[in-house]
This record gives sequence, structure tokens and C-alpha cells, in this order.
Amino acid sequence: RTVYLNGDYLPETEAKVSIFDRAFLMADGIYEVTSVLEGKLIDFPGHATRLQRSLSELDLRAPCTMEELLEIHRELIRVNEITEGLVYLQITRGAPGDRDFVFPDPETTEPTIVLFTQNKPGLATSPMADTGMKIISIEDQRWGRRDIKTVQLLYPSMGKMMAKKAGCDDAWMVEDGFVTEGTSNNAYIVKGNKIITRALSNDILHGITRAAVLRFATEAQMEVEERNFSIEEAQGADEAFITSASAFVMPVVEIDGTAVGDGKPGHRAKRLREIYLEESL
Ligand code: PDD
Repeated sequence: RTVYLNGDYLPETEAKVSIFDRAFLMADGIYEVTSVLEGKLIDFPGHATRLQRSLSELDLRAPCTMEELLEIHRELIRVNEITEGLVYLQITRGAPGDRDFVFPDPETTEPTIVLFTQNKPGLATSPMADTGMKIISIEDQRWGRRDIKTVQLLYPSMGKMMAKKAGCDDAWMVEDGFVTEGTSNNAYIVKGNKIITRALSNDILHGITRAAVLRFATEAQMEVEERNFSIEEAQGADEAFITSASAFVMPVVEIDGTAVGDGKPGHRAKRLREIYLEESL
């Protein structure tokens, strides 16, 4: 596989980063994941806009323009022959000579930029879309700026492991009695014709898929209500689902051992998945 590192296209075994890189020492970096379907990037402008916001919130410099970034994405998709899969992009504050809590001088320390692809045949036809996901709830113990897409993913990763150990697929995180989001996705419930999801704030990542799906829901005459909901309300809802760039729309059929609705993927979640996949191509 060919990867991109600081201006060069290299075989993955030759792409090397310093041990002083601030992402390695301090998780001082941000990322984006963009899906590829039929060889095409899904919603690149949305991901580029959020990337710029993450950079500016952390006082990080963009190492290139968004047009150049798009070109790098396309080149990697081409050389690695990706029809279905993902492009991962990471920008970090770079590698000053020493470990120091103080940010290095941006005049002397260049950001590190890495892109690689992941080939995922069958991404759009995942069997989980038909069976639905089982979810556990866990306390949300992440930091308070979840709106910034940082590489600080230890707690979400632990959450996934807790779900796995419980024989489930993912965890929804709960803060002050209300669901914030999934470990790597936004969370929704459906009551009647209403799609309910937490409003945007620093408490959650502003999902690019979320924005698209809420727009499609409105266009499909569903109602959208942006408000907090609890695990108890979700267990008693008609349907539940999640969204993310890599899972699109994925139904949730069980929360903490309780079936949601009839325990099968709901028809609104299924419909939104269909619309999302149709409209994104
Ligand atoms: N995760 N919330 C969190 C905490 C996330 O990590 C993600 C994305 C989302 C959904 O955002 P979007 O629709 O823009 O992908 C919500 C990516 C896919 C990941 O970490 O792999």
C-alpha cells in the first residue's frame, strides 16, 4: 500500500515519523475519516470544513490547502485501487527536538501530515445493517472538547472493548443521565415520525453524516428534534440508530439487554440508510 507523509507518496514500510512527534507523546493531533464508495469520496467538503475547524480550535497550522488535500485523497484512492473503503488523514503539531508541554514554535516545527487508505470491500453492504447493533451504555469519561476531532481515542477504544466483552457491538456514552454519542458515531432514537438526537455543542462530535442524515430526514417528511435523551427513553423508543462516515446509518436493536421496538432494525433507520447511500453517490 502507498501512503502519504509530509509531501511524499511512499510504500507504507518506508513512512517513518519521529519518536518526538507530539501526537505520539501527547495525542496532539487531529484526524478525519472519509469513506470511499465506487471509488468516490463521500462528502469530502464536509470533512475538509470540520478539519479546518479542528485545526483552528487547537491553533494548528494546515500544511497544505484543502484543494491539495483533495488531490492527495484522490491520488491514494487511485494508486491503491480503492473502490470501497476509507481514507484516513491525520495532522499533528509535529516533532520538536524534545518533550515539552509548551507548544513548539510553528516557525521551526512543521506539522506532520499522514494519509493512508483502508480497503473495505462490502462496506456499503454490511450484514449488520440487516441484523442491527447491540449497544451497552457506559459513563462518558472523555475530555470536554469532543467537538474537536483529536486522536485522543483511548477512552472510546476502552468503551469498544467493554462492549465486546459484554458480547455487544458498541457503547453509547452517558453524561448527567443523557446519551452524548457512541464511541465513534452519533446516536439517535425514533419515536413515531420523529428522529431525536442530541443538539450540537462541545459535548459531541459534529458528525458530517449526522448533518446529511438530518437533512435527508427532513426532506423525507420525517420530523427532527435535537434534544437530549436518556438510555431509558431510548430503550422505550420505536427505533434507534447511529451514524458515522464508516457505518453510514446503522440500526440499533438492543440497549443494555433490552430490545428496542420489536428488536429488529426499524423501517425509518433502514430508509435513511438507503437514502444516504443513494444520495451520497
Ligand atoms: N468517527 N462521534 C464520534 C465520537 C466519532 O468518532 C465519529 C466519527 C462520529 C461521526 O462523525 P462522522 O459522521 O463525521 O464520521 C461521531 C470516525 C468514523 C472514526 O473515528 O473512525
